[in-house]
Amino acid sequence: MGTQENRAPEPRQAVSHAPVVGSASSARDAERAAAEGASTGVHATNFRFPDGFLWGASTSAHQVEGNNTLNDWWAWEQAGKVRVPSGRAADHWNRFAEDFDLAQSLEHNAHRFSLEWSRIEPEEGRWSDEAMAHYRAVLEALHARGIEPVVTLYHYTMPQWMAAKGGWEHPRMERYYARYVKHVLEQLGPLVRWWITLNEPVVQVFKGWLIGQWPPGKVDWAAALKVLRHMLRAHVRAYHVIHDARPDARVSIAKHVLALSADDPRRWSDRLSVRMRSYVFNHLFLDALHTGALRMPGFFWERLPMGRTLDFIGVNYYTRDFVRNSGYDLPGLMGTRSKRDHRQQVGKLNDLGWEVYPEGLAQYLREYARFELPILVTENGVPARDDDDRWVFMFMHLWQVARAIAEGVDVVGYLHWSLLDNYEWADGYGARFGLVEVDFDTLERRVRPSAWKLAHIIRGNEL
Ligand code: FCB
Repeated sequence: MGTQENRAPEPRQAVSHAPVVGSASSARDAERAAAEGASTGVHATNFRFPDGFLWGASTSAHQVEGNNTLNDWWAWEQAGKVRVPSGRAADHWNRFAEDFDLAQSLEHNAHRFSLEWSRIEPEEGRWSDEAMAHYRAVLEALHARGIEPVVTLYHYTMPQWMAAKGGWEHPRMERYYARYVKHVLEQLGPLVRWWITLNEPVVQVFKGWLIGQWPPGKVDWAAALKVLRHMLRAHVRAYHVIHDARPDARVSIAKHVLALSADDPRRWSDRLSVRMRSYVFNHLFLDALHTGALRMPGFFWERLPMGRTLDFIGVNYYTRDFVRNSGYDLPGLMGTRSKRDHRQQVGKLNDLGWEVYPEGLAQYLREYARFELPILVTENGVPARDDDDRWVFMFMHLWQVARAIAEGVDVVGYLHWSLLDNYEWADGYGARFGLVEVDFDTLERRVRPSAWKLAHIIRGNEL
């Protein structure tokens, strides 16, 4: 299992639920007090998280900054490929200091966000001093509040000039990417220890090259495989660029993991597809970076340059799918998402219709312990208009994190998706993922009660 010594949960005395805030003079303090004292409030059980545990939330540039007019997603929106364009999003570009004040008041000691490449390099080879000054100010604002930055270098969006050249299909994409990473490290390296090179590469390949829902909107297995290879190689290069500039850096990808079950557990072909899909969705990319070889038994094999390139494992976890086999070629073996009604087996569905399935998180934390690397939960969250649902989701998933840690898995932090309500890609603004509610007309922020409850857990560092 993990590198951490086995820790059996120690019985503890219940802690007081009284919020530790100076006075209840402000409205926010009053809301906090009400939320923490509510009947669904936190009852300390018997689990302490490890000292130094990273607690916080995640965002990504295109989803919160607003007016990212120079990337491929903006072009995709303008071309009418999605119902709702991102527009000014949550205007985090202008309001980051205020948003970090909220994160600080919510006890966060870590924060994940992404840099927007298209702002940093708006035209090929031209670097924007303004963008760099902005991100330096963002990092300084985090440090000033005692919040450890976790920086994503690439969260789905790419400069339009790069996309016009073929983007991830371009044979030298990894060089363009590495050049951008080098520039970032020269400028911001001293301010950041935790780096994520790519957010959910397999999801991006799936949505962009296999189902055509995201840019560049293709359905092309050969191109998808090429992109997968290029992403792996881009990570490897970036890993070394980051370590050359900052030897103590901690580098990973944010790996999307999806719990999977057979549509019909009695059908061996469905069970086979679960294994195949799980390998491709959940294991192949990390395995390749860990072992230095891209393997798809019976289909392809490729050696990557430069061996092991992960310092920790970033895990994004949301839900479970049921899988139906649809044939015996590669797509058929991967199967399709079952359309059958599994109401008897599933947990509650969230606002986007995804199953709430907390056990999946502990399952993958356990499975990834085989890498013998620290694991950081880089995203976990729920689109929920009803904030009680968010609280229940959070508590049940934190419980699974606690279970995994108690079993010896080295989990070093939990970053909730998301700090703010934001632009949920093709799903627009209806999906409310924020610990902080955003009114998209006035851009006003309002901390949700679940966020105060999480703050209470963070303060005690225990469940
Ligand atoms: C993850 C993405 C993130 C956000 C959440 C809901 O897959 O990384 O950008 O959309 O899902």
